[in-house]
Amino acid sequence: MGRKEGKREKTKGELRRLERALLSLAYITVLFLFSVLPGSPSAPGPGKPRTLPCLTRHFIGRKEDVEKIIAKLRTDRLRMIEIISPPGMGKTQVAISVSHSLKIREPTLFVIYVERLDKLTDICGEILDRLHCRPWSISDDLISQAKRKLLELQEDTVIVLDNTEDVQGKEVDREFDDFAEWLVKSAPKVQLMITTRQDVGFVSADIHKVQLEPLDVNLSVELLRRLEVSCSEKQVKVLGELCGGIPLLLVNCACLLKDGFNPEVLIQELRNNPIGLLKFNAKEIYDALGRFVTMFSENLIKTLIVLSVFPSTFSPKDIEFLFDDQLQLETVKTKMLKCTLLQKMNDQKLGLHPLLQAYCRTERESLDMVEVGCNAQSKFNEHYLDLLKSLSKTFITKNSARDAIETLRDQKVNIMEALKNCFEDANDADQPGQAIDVVNSTEVLDFLAKVLSPPKECADLYRKCCDIAKTSDDKRRHAESLNSLGFRRLCDVGHSKDEPEGIRVTLEMFQEAHDIRKTLPEEDQKCQTHAHTISKLGLCHVLQVTVFFSCGKWERQEAKCKQ
Ligand SMILES: Nc1ncnc2c1ncn2[C@@H]1O[C@H](COP(=O)(O)OP(=O)(O)OP(=O)(O)O)[C@@H](O)[C@H]1O
Ligand SMILES: [Mg+2]
Repeated sequence: MGRKEGKREKTKGELRRLERALLSLAYITVLFLFSVLPGSPSAPGPGKPRTLPCLTRHFIGRKEDVEKIIAKLRTDRLRMIEIISPPGMGKTQVAISVSHSLKIREPTLFVIYVERLDKLTDICGEILDRLHCRPWSISDDLISQAKRKLLELQEDTVIVLDNTEDVQGKEVDREFDDFAEWLVKSAPKVQLMITTRQDVGFVSADIHKVQLEPLDVNLSVELLRRLEVSCSEKQVKVLGELCGGIPLLLVNCACLLKDGFNPEVLIQELRNNPIGLLKFNAKEIYDALGRFVTMFSENLIKTLIVLSVFPSTFSPKDIEFLFDDQLQLETVKTKMLKCTLLQKMNDQKLGLHPLLQAYCRTERESLDMVEVGCNAQSKFNEHYLDLLKSLSKTFITKNSARDAIETLRDQKVNIMEALKNCFEDANDADQPGQAIDVVNSTEVLDFLAKVLSPPKECADLYRKCCDIAKTSDDKRRHAESLNSLGFRRLCDVGHSKDEPEGIRVTLEMFQEAHDIRKTLPEEDQKCQTHAHTISKLGLCHVLQVTVFFSCGKWERQEAKCKQ
């Protein structure tokens, strides 16, 4: 009995398996037939939504860009849209978002989306495939076939080609650019949209270029939050700023954090050595940056390296000293803006993207541009130290002093960068000393101590000078730097009678400067700085006595003596 039932159960199980297998086979057959039979009601016709890639679940911002592109395509009827930016800025996602929106708003519109392919024939094959023009033989000229088919089209069609930089712009082989130009000029029913890291090699008034800007800080922070990173709110904000609005970097940082990377170390590395961080932890971005930079001509890479010596944004006037003449400057500037190597900022200044700038600084050696970089940096240092000296000279009359203060505020980052470069220059032992001499000179000291803001930054600068001079056992410069640091402190404590401790520390600084100076040969003691040290030392003594009285210590001391 038991055996009989067991056998029946076994047969039932086998029947169920067979039934399932038959059903799956029927399902696959139906799917296959629907997908190959042209004209079949459910066939995946060109531009059907399911031929489009999915938009990332965390897509954020970019509404304006998407709407503008749609308007340019469908309202203004422009023939081609070029979405251009350095790697990882979100071009592909914007193109996907535009494609989905187009299909939702105009279901009958054909949208053909072709993902990254590196040969024009493959792209054309893919287009023919989407237009149901298979089969063809290998020997067919796919480019001519595609052109013929696109000319015959009766319906409005948008062709989206993603990441075309690898096919376009070859100096000898202009095949892709020619094909795109032909589409723009000759295929009335077709509009083209490409995403690329490199500008196309032809000019037309029918092209609309969209240069994707980095996401703003709020959106960056929002994206990190949506990606559920495990760190404090404060750390999320800092990370949002440090990622420079590059979605790919934000996504990678979020993944690192999720995998347990320490948020504080991540912040520190993004600040100090972003390229090192990427090289070992986000190789995809590091490699993409490398491919992006090396795609340009040697001359453009040279200019990139040269401009990367600027720590932040700059005006065309700021970079004048790096070029032979205005024509050269304007030509290079326009070229770089055109291919998104440079960005126009809100304040009309120009800037390299922070990650690109960091790449050009860190990878001079692998780009074979060490000499170019060093020369540019020397020029930069010299230019900004000269500027500091000349501004200090004009810090005299009311009007010229106002101009000097304004220029210092505007150029502070560059001047401080030049000083930092000189202090840290390992190749030229004279550089730190020469920079120390500049900032300790009477006029520059007077200017910086009174104007450089916040005052702590000025104090840190002179403290750094003290440390460098002390470490290299350079007594003259050590005495001079102590004198400068003391003077900076005096600018504050001289007005603050409630700070006896501050005055005592300042007095000790001048005293140390004085004592060090006394160990130097006689001729080194006959100088303006030493006279300054002595006079300020005297002033500190006077201040100390004043504070002593004003604090009521004198009365207390007197009372003690009388007792
Ligand atoms: N607006 C956005 N919101 C959220 N995530 C985004 C956004 N844009 C891009 N991303 C994410 O950033 C990453 C890079 O985006 P995308 O591939 O679109 O950049 P790209 O500019 O096309 O880069 P490439 O030059 O390498 O082709 C992807 O992981 C994507 O999910
Ligand atoms: Mg892309």
